[in-house]
Amino acid sequence: MPKETKKFPKDFLWGSSVSSYQVEGNVKNCDWSEKFPARTACNYYLNYEHYFDLAKELNQNAHRFSLSWSRIQPEEGKFDRKQIEHYRKMILALRERGISPMVTIWHWTLPLWMAEKGGWQNSKFSEYFEQYTRFVVEELDDVVDLWLTTNEPMIYTSLAYILGKFPPQKNNLLVVPKVFYNFIETHKKAYKAIHDINKNAKVGIAQNLSFVDVFDENSVLNKAVANAFNFFRNRLFLELTKNYQDFLGINYYFHDRIKFDPFSFSPLKIKNDDKEVSDLGWEIYPEGLYYVLRDLKKYNLPIYITENGLADKEDKKRTKFIMEHLQQIHRAIQDGVDVRGYLHWSLIDNFEWVDGFGPRFGLVEMNYKDMSTKIRKSAREYAKICKTGLLDS
Ligand code: FCB
Repeated sequence: MPKETKKFPKDFLWGSSVSSYQVEGNVKNCDWSEKFPARTACNYYLNYEHYFDLAKELNQNAHRFSLSWSRIQPEEGKFDRKQIEHYRKMILALRERGISPMVTIWHWTLPLWMAEKGGWQNSKFSEYFEQYTRFVVEELDDVVDLWLTTNEPMIYTSLAYILGKFPPQKNNLLVVPKVFYNFIETHKKAYKAIHDINKNAKVGIAQNLSFVDVFDENSVLNKAVANAFNFFRNRLFLELTKNYQDFLGINYYFHDRIKFDPFSFSPLKIKNDDKEVSDLGWEIYPEGLYYVLRDLKKYNLPIYITENGLADKEDKKRTKFIMEHLQQIHRAIQDGVDVRGYLHWSLIDNFEWVDGFGPRFGLVEMNYKDMSTKIRKSAREYAKICKTGLLDS
């Protein structure tokens, strides 16, 4: 069969993502550092130029990273200007290499003082966050094009407050409404604050959206339950914040095929075929990304894929994974969905939260013993597309 070449839009952003705690190393005064220390991680805080050289070598023109609130505001009321200078230098280092920065203001870790005040459960959380946001945006606004206020509010809420995995490790459904409300208020206030400083700023949220489908298409009940699941998992937060987003940031990893059996002990199950899975057992389901994107068309906002990737230590599946997800993105663009960029998770192997350093998500392999790096084969394949904007399929 002759190969068909797919062309992506001219100004498409091609890049990769990281977050501060997962790569920087030696983050102190933070709610994660006692229980889940990331130690030197990838030493990105000191070694960022090396990583940006790699991104450039791989023809990437965009890079998403996050700021460390613990570094910038180590104590209540005390902002550290030196840290902002550090991030400014980093951003300029990206720009010198022709790479656009996309900056996440909060990616899952809190300064200790904020955690001690109850973190996302504190009634004044959105005010603290607004102060922090104003400080960073006033200082960095002239060099940043795209801002994300927060990363995956729903996933964080469930891991930190329902499943008890992330700090503060609670299993308490009763606190969820408050945390959820705080996320919405926090985003809205931050959104307004950023626009107060610069009315042309572009602000979004990185939201983890899954593709939800139904195990038994013939069951009306199964369909209704899957719809309800989809509403709470993917829609509610988006609906409540849609007027406060200049673009949609989408992290796509999951297929949730809902099986409903009212008579069993736990009636709701995710029952995927799992034909292909990553090293973490996450099902690989590129087609789902197309459906997710198609459903977002109605919001009429530009879309960036702010994360998409897999743990694949041997790099056996990554090339195919990237190509197939890009095909689905292209298909959505053909259908009129305004997708403007793809940021693979991740540029480098890094600290995968409670799973530690085991899972390997990087386009670039890290040797944590001596901090040496090796570009994976899949990264070279992705680099060809980043260079030309063309995908053969
Ligand atoms: C996402 C997180 C990111 C990374 C990937 C694998 O949910 O935003 O930090 O851990 O998963």
